[in-house]
Amino acid sequence: MRNIMVVGSISTDFVVTADRRPETGETITGKDFKTTFGGKGANQAVASARLGGHVSMVGTVGNDIFGQELVKNLATNGIAVKNVERVTHFPSGSAHITIVDGDNAIVYIPGANNAFDLDRVEKLAAEMEQTDLVIIQNELPQDVVDKIIAVCYEKDVKVLYNPAPARTLDEDSLEKVTFITPNESEFKLMFPGLTVSEGVKKYPKKLIVTLGSKGVCYHDGISERIIPSYHVTPVDTTGAGDTFNGAFAVGITSGLDMEASLHFGNLAAALSIQKFGAQGGMPTLEEMKGNDKYEKTWNIE
Ligand code: RIB
Ligand code: NA
Repeated sequence: MRNIMVVGSISTDFVVTADRRPETGETITGKDFKTTFGGKGANQAVASARLGGHVSMVGTVGNDIFGQELVKNLATNGIAVKNVERVTHFPSGSAHITIVDGDNAIVYIPGANNAFDLDRVEKLAAEMEQTDLVIIQNELPQDVVDKIIAVCYEKDVKVLYNPAPARTLDEDSLEKVTFITPNESEFKLMFPGLTVSEGVKKYPKKLIVTLGSKGVCYHDGISERIIPSYHVTPVDTTGAGDTFNGAFAVGITSGLDMEASLHFGNLAAALSIQKFGAQGGMPTLEEMKGNDKYEKTWNIE
């Protein structure tokens, strides 16, 4: 139970905090600079592991000091790192983030994260088959993502696909994933011409559209449902979606139904955005249980 494999990016976040964003050609003085651990894949892996998931990370780092620290951080969070490869021909991935009023703008440089080929997916097939859920995002090459979806479908392994950052997806891959979790702008790009209501109705119990502070929308097969978010004052929303996805994965693989898993994901995300950094603030299971919004019925051990 709760054997989760995350295939995705592992990056260092270079985070600047400022009162506003500079105009083109302008220099402004910011308030703060920090390096933190990030990458959507690594973030989702850490979110799941802190909540009790047995997580294995598949990804690639460079042969540099960042790569060493990135792997160490995953291991410290209790994540199996035997499938994290180190390459010499690319630097470790990085994300360059500016935070203004708690909201981020990000430039992502894949580096080693893109050094991932289709052969490697083939080699992972047997291991994927042993997991309860495979989680993927869009910070890996498109053909790798498509291949993982195809292999998991063939082996009957559940896939949670968080299509971030935005990219289009073919109908075939969409049919093959178990869950897909775009935010509103990713949804618009993937489902041109469809409203969120039309989208979730077309893909019941599969398509989950995250609406930020409004919560998440899905269709339970009978009617459209909005699972509201928990209202908190954000310090840093970076990684909120990653925390939601990692926690939702723990809910599902712990045997909770979709609705409970979505509530569980929302609560984890709300806790995470109250601390700085994508992984800062991602709650442990104990922290979740200690929160007054935690439902006894969730009953995750
Ligand atoms: O989802 C947030 C993450 O995406 C950050 O940690 C950063 O690495 C970006 O690429
Ligand atoms: Na945070």
